[in-house]
Amino acid sequence: MNLVDSHAHVHFPRFDKDRDAVIERARKAGLTAIVDVGTNLASSRAAVALAEGLAEGLAEGRDFVYAAVGVHPHDAKTLTPAILDEIRSLARHPKVVAIGEIGLDYYRNHSPHPTQRRAFAQQLGLAAELNLPVIVHSRDSTDQDRRAHNDVLAALRDWTASLPMGRTDGRLGVIHSYSAGVSGLDDVLDLGFFVGISGPVTFPKANDLRIVAARVPLDRLLVETDCPYLTPKPYRGRRNEPAYVQYVVEEIAVARDTTPKAVAEATTQNARRLFGWR
Ligand code: NI
Repeated sequence: MNLVDSHAHVHFPRFDKDRDAVIERARKAGLTAIVDVGTNLASSRAAVALAEGLAEGLAEGRDFVYAAVGVHPHDAKTLTPAILDEIRSLARHPKVVAIGEIGLDYYRNHSPHPTQRRAFAQQLGLAAELNLPVIVHSRDSTDQDRRAHNDVLAALRDWTASLPMGRTDGRLGVIHSYSAGVSGLDDVLDLGFFVGISGPVTFPKANDLRIVAARVPLDRLLVETDCPYLTPKPYRGRRNEPAYVQYVVEEIAVARDTTPKAVAEATTQNARRLFGWR
């Protein structure tokens, strides 16, 4: 079974002691690619180093790790013009497949909202300039609140409208670890974006997310771990890792009344289409 973890943070220090073993377990579980996602400049550098096979705790190069570079909304206040330039040069690395993670977080509010919106717009501009897709973080303060989601959609509409013709829906981006419910889904699909489903789909109370997982067209679905966070059943409460993306796939297969293999094959193809590796 071919699997892709479309959103991981294996470069985080929590993997320093056993990074090689974590990646080897991912390979044994059938993963053919991991997108390792940066959250600020230092983290983006570390993601690129991991994709190059140079990270601490690696016995050998790991050719199936790719990187995304960007400044997370939590760190939006760090995004100076100089840092944006550094992100731009990192993004030209051949193993960088996306700008991310970028977006809006109105839950933790580590950066003021206007600052978050500016950093998001600047990095969308960078993705347009470099013809890269985007990995988008969108989080509201409660399950009912849609302010962050609506602001994300508004920014993405402006962005897609500004793109040259021909940059069509296969290469725009993904709303990662989607959390805006069934009611927020159509707008994302109308924009031409992929929907990333992660560990919370396995949680007992996540009925709404399972309905989302059943409703997303198969050619718009991605799976991810967001490790070390969001650990799925049966490992909930422990550190997450890319191999556990299989439990996300199994839960989605149940929700869609299909086989894990069908979900795995489709999401693997989708990731290749979005991120453009061969
Ligand atoms: Ni993440």
